[in-house]
Amino acid sequence: MADEKNRVLIFDTTLRDGEQALMRSLTPKQKLQLAMMLDELGVDVIEAGFPISSPGDLRSVHDIGHALRHATCCGLSRTVEKDIDAVHEALKDLDHYRIHTFVATSNIHVKDKLHRSFDQVVEMCDHCVRYARNYTDDVEFSCEDAGRTPIDNLCRIVETAIRAGATTVNIPDTVGYTLPSEFGGIIRTLFERVPNIDQARISVHCHNDLGMATANSLTAVQQGARQIEVCMNGLGERAGNCSLEEVVMAMKLRSGYMGGVWTNVVAKNIARASQMVATVCNEPVPSHKAIVGSNAFAHSSGIHQDGVLKDKATYEILTPESVGFRENNLHMTARSGRHMIKAELAKLGYREGTYDLDDVYARFLRLADRKGQVFDYDLEALMFFSQDEDESDQFKLDNLSVISGGKNVIPAASVRLRVGKRTRTESGTGNGPVDAVFNCINRLTGLKLKLNHFTIGAKGSGMDAQGQVDVDVIENGRHYYGSGISTDVIEASALALISAANSLYRTRLIEEREGGKRLRAVGP
Ligand code: KIV
Ligand code: ZN
Repeated sequence: MADEKNRVLIFDTTLRDGEQALMRSLTPKQKLQLAMMLDELGVDVIEAGFPISSPGDLRSVHDIGHALRHATCCGLSRTVEKDIDAVHEALKDLDHYRIHTFVATSNIHVKDKLHRSFDQVVEMCDHCVRYARNYTDDVEFSCEDAGRTPIDNLCRIVETAIRAGATTVNIPDTVGYTLPSEFGGIIRTLFERVPNIDQARISVHCHNDLGMATANSLTAVQQGARQIEVCMNGLGERAGNCSLEEVVMAMKLRSGYMGGVWTNVVAKNIARASQMVATVCNEPVPSHKAIVGSNAFAHSSGIHQDGVLKDKATYEILTPESVGFRENNLHMTARSGRHMIKAELAKLGYREGTYDLDDVYARFLRLADRKGQVFDYDLEALMFFSQDEDESDQFKLDNLSVISGGKNVIPAASVRLRVGKRTRTESGTGNGPVDAVFNCINRLTGLKLKLNHFTIGAKGSGMDAQGQVDVDVIENGRHYYGSGISTDVIEASALALISAANSLYRTRLIEEREGGKRLRAVGP
């Protein structure tokens, strides 16, 4: 029987700290999709957003909170009453939710950023934790930049937060400055000197600026911390946050060394979660990334290969299967029925009722007709892109034809686009087939999208892969992002540009609704 006192809660902030560092913000649908996946993964708390930052974020936190089945939903707030009210507003209908309130405590932040005295900061902490406790009995307080906070001040504010009713106190190394022995020492000192420390759970939130986030978090656990704040694939501000997959697998593999610690995360769901976050956030996983990189289980040198052939354990401390990597089995064709697709989706972790089977099946058949064989990763891509499409999309590709190739052929395209309720067609030329298609789309949408960045990659492997195109376009000084996937890379390019155009259109609508305010004006 696992001992409850050795349980380490996993607090996932991919949707808040991770999302705030992305080049583009995620749509509410994408956030919901990721939240459902994190819930299946078995994380304990999901920080779904920062509700005061915009009405859209508040709505998104609300929707996620109402959809989660297992994890506790949490919203971030500064130590400001209206921020706390916004978290409450988003989650008040739930039986249980967490308010996470934070204020900076290091000298440099207190003086130069907040222009306050430390006494005032302690007062803000005391007031806001009590204020939040009027709404919920699950309140987390964070001492931003705790890693650089003088230890006497840190002990004082942690004691204050617990006395005011904080049930979790988080010690962030906000700028990733500390070294493992130093950070472990901070946690040890808190346990030695804060008299009421046993009345709260101590959490850590380590950034990775010096590459220490995982080591610092694990050292803190050895000193008594029982919550780690993480992002999938180590996303997050600057060099990122502590990686979920790294701390979870380290605690699983080295639990004995670490005194029997355990988490609720289902290791076999890690690969899928990592790939979904990489695709949705358009942040590819580096090949050498621990646990989830494509090279993480590859053996290159002759000596290593020889060793592994004799006994895998010579060079393999973990198996790829243990984190959910599996061979892509060929099992779906245009003859596969709806039941089979539903069963495959269930194996991939999609719960019935969370997607529209008719829509997915119709798309599956179209893909199977074009591709012949459909693999797991195709089905995943289909799910992501079908869920990403919105009924409110202003632009939708209806048809596309392209002529290119040969020395004397001028690349030309004809594009039929649904614009609102009307369908229109444009033809044109360009310096290549993609350019010709983009020229047509710009004329059809009436938008002057300037291509800033274009990447093309493969979803899947070898000849069976589909092309995924990601674009970054600029309009009026602002960036918009779009992705498209297809068996045909020109079509994937068209879809990517159209999704960027839809994103621009949606942003304009929201800003008009919100009285011309630019989105994301407030951020931690
Ligand atoms: O890095 C940090 O200090 C944070 C806090 C808001 C917890 O993200
Ligand atoms: Zn952070």
